[in-house]
Amino acid sequence: MEWWQEGVLYQIYPRSFRDTNGDGVGDLRGIIEGLDHLEWLGVDGVWVNPIHPSPNDDWGYDVSAYKDVHPELGTMEDFEELIDDAARRGIRILLDLVPNHTSSAHPWFVDALSGRDAKHRDWYVWSDPKPDGSPPNNWLSMFGGSAWEFDEPSGQYYLHNFLDSQADLDWWNEEVREAIDDVLRFWFDKGVAGFRIDVANSVIKDRDLRDNPPTTDDDHLEIQRIGQRPMYSMNRPEVHEILRRWRKVAREADPPRMLVGETYVLDLGVLASYYGTGDELDLAFNFPMFFTALDGEAMKTTVEQTFDHLSEDSWPVWTGSNHDGLRFPSRWCDGDERKIRIALMMLLTLRGTPFLYYGDEIGMTNVDITREQLKDPVGIRFFPENPGRDPGRTPMQWSADDGAGFTKPDVSPWLPLGDHRSVNVADQRSDGGSILNFTRDLIHLRRRSEDLRSGEQSSIASPTGTFVYRRGVSTVVVLNMTDAPNSFDVDGEVLVTSTGRALEAGPLELDPFEGAIVTQS
Ligand code: NOJ
Repeated sequence: MEWWQEGVLYQIYPRSFRDTNGDGVGDLRGIIEGLDHLEWLGVDGVWVNPIHPSPNDDWGYDVSAYKDVHPELGTMEDFEELIDDAARRGIRILLDLVPNHTSSAHPWFVDALSGRDAKHRDWYVWSDPKPDGSPPNNWLSMFGGSAWEFDEPSGQYYLHNFLDSQADLDWWNEEVREAIDDVLRFWFDKGVAGFRIDVANSVIKDRDLRDNPPTTDDDHLEIQRIGQRPMYSMNRPEVHEILRRWRKVAREADPPRMLVGETYVLDLGVLASYYGTGDELDLAFNFPMFFTALDGEAMKTTVEQTFDHLSEDSWPVWTGSNHDGLRFPSRWCDGDERKIRIALMMLLTLRGTPFLYYGDEIGMTNVDITREQLKDPVGIRFFPENPGRDPGRTPMQWSADDGAGFTKPDVSPWLPLGDHRSVNVADQRSDGGSILNFTRDLIHLRRRSEDLRSGEQSSIASPTGTFVYRRGVSTVVVLNMTDAPNSFDVDGEVLVTSTGRALEAGPLELDPFEGAIVTQS
């Protein structure tokens, strides 16, 4: 088993983790300060959202220099110290690679704009207008409106699947491929353990730029939301060749590195294809599971279907929260602590790699944001129908103090604080029965248990609304995801319950929204 299969990974949104210089924005030194917490929690690896120089139109996902650190977040020396300090604690650092697009402020794009003959012109996707002057096709940006922006001086449109200041690179161009290989190698040399790859499944576009078809009622609601089926602008078959190429670069490094892709697809068969035949992504984020309700029947179905689709050598990955899809303690659990605990028990005991998002371990929920406080371009465009992603990106709640231990007491953080007086790391750390200590107990149990780290998983028949599975030879996880008590016919010793109640098995009587892990001899 690889470290990233057995381990627990943790996502940090660097601007919101910890601010050490009092500017209201989290920084790399803040992550270094947070390592004590992560080590105590038992985390094996950390994925840090983009840290590179960026105009921050999309908060780092508009990169203007791939081989540097954003001054607001720190320096290259800080980054090297982070890698070293984390390594001493057995924690690996993954960075975020954004290969689909660059910022329009990136020197490549600035050069491309200088004219049709520019050296980097064909590093981006350019096309002539239709005869009536309109965009080359009907593609829509994921952030609303046409995916094409007209460049008056050259008389052509360029493609942007996201903001118009995020110009899509042309992955048909070998020079682009080489440039990004070079970025990978640069950070591998610095000691990063791998990358989370942004838009990993969709960097290459249809060569003929064919129109996308309309959605139908059969499409997943999340696809209907886009307004068209992104058949030609995403998930093109040629992407596999690129994934194989990145995999090769990652495996050629010494030691070999890992790649986890943001594979935003809602079809598990398509998701499975991004693992290739063990020669593409190591892990492909599972959005169908992310969008499944926290209901025994529904989760069981999605999890079983995931196993059915993934081949022998593909390893699942499970996530409840991230910086785009907001926090599971709100989305799945409506802030109900019983549900938050049961979700954590599920995430940390399914066969596969769990990714926790900063704050999951204390049950942080989404935070209401006013129009004036918005920072996310999606929220700014669609508020109030869609408040965007800021509600899930608010500062880590370290303590009940003014500033939440995130920043100095008199500093106003870049996004508002949530309810840090009642939900924070410091208070939960000293409370043995807290969500934080429960999360830590689960992570440490997982570390000790070969069954939980690597054992096979099979479902056990159970009442509607519950989800019960065997892991490995002797571990059974029983999740009562219903509002009613439930009795399970299982023998053995109860190792942990989500409520902290001491329970006996055979039969196991669970309260509403209570889970238990049982070991059988
Ligand atoms: C996915 C990232 O997770 C999201 O935050 C970003 O806005 C888009 N890709 C564009 O890079």
